[in-house]
Amino acid sequence: MKVVEKINEMRRLRQHIAEPVGLVPTMGYLHEGHLALVERARVENSSVVASIFVNPTQFGPQEDFKHYPRDHELDLSILEKEKTDIVFMPSVAEMYPEPFDSWVEVSKITKHLEGAARPGHFRGVATVVAKLFNIVQPSRAYFGQKDAQQSIVIRKMVADLNMNLEIITIPTVREADGLAMSSRNIYLNSEQRQAATVLYQALSLAKQLWSHGEKDAERIRQQMLTLVQRQPLTDIDYVSIADNETLDELDTVSPPALVSLAVRIGKTRLIDNVVLE
Ligand code: PAJ
Repeated sequence: MKVVEKINEMRRLRQHIAEPVGLVPTMGYLHEGHLALVERARVENSSVVASIFVNPTQFGPQEDFKHYPRDHELDLSILEKEKTDIVFMPSVAEMYPEPFDSWVEVSKITKHLEGAARPGHFRGVATVVAKLFNIVQPSRAYFGQKDAQQSIVIRKMVADLNMNLEIITIPTVREADGLAMSSRNIYLNSEQRQAATVLYQALSLAKQLWSHGEKDAERIRQQMLTLVQRQPLTDIDYVSIADNETLDELDTVSPPALVSLAVRIGKTRLIDNVVLE
């Protein structure tokens, strides 16, 4: 496994690995959710490139960029075991040399959900992912359903800008009690960790109501809200039932519908979702 910090070196090595190439973009502090992406990339491609880059432009000024968890040594040992060919881990100066001045903006679908709650977030995500695609030139790139809107934004960018690769979305990997794996789960103390199971409980409730014939989106949202509010450590950002493509909120649930929520527990903001099909 080669570990590369410079863009030129990444491009040079890229010429010598077997096609097709699968790319797994990450911010590191890897867990089993990331590994599911790498494993799928390994199965579907002759070569696998993973990137580790905590991207400053997708964090708001009040967010956790500085404190985002990092453990490069552990990440590299995990990626080595997964038979990754190249790990690209550039510095911020390498990716954003001053004066950096070009941005990728996906307009409409970033007005909703995470985009509404985190202004500028998806501009940072789309820009860094476009840069990674240009640098690595993969045949396929792998993203997690955990960040459903991110996957949708990247697909839209690839379609609108005629980028020549396939986007693959991998199901959310969960802990035994349903909590979606996330690098940010490390911030939770044991009481908060226990409380965090309420996100998946609310999503399961939505699924259950839907499968029993409930089609009124507002009634499902209300029941989810009530369930989450019963847990005193939680502070709800949003509970949404939206069209899985446009992300417009639905009055009547018609599949595929994206049920998603964002909840603060202490200082930690958690997101999760399920799709009603
Ligand atoms: P990061 O949060 O490190 O996640 C990297 C990839 O792993 C994303 O595609 C994310 O959806 C996926 N992932 C995270 N938790 C998962 C889980 N429990 N199950 C399945 N997949 C999971 O997302 C980012 O980094 C960044 O925004 C990035 C795309 C790298 C751009 O900076």
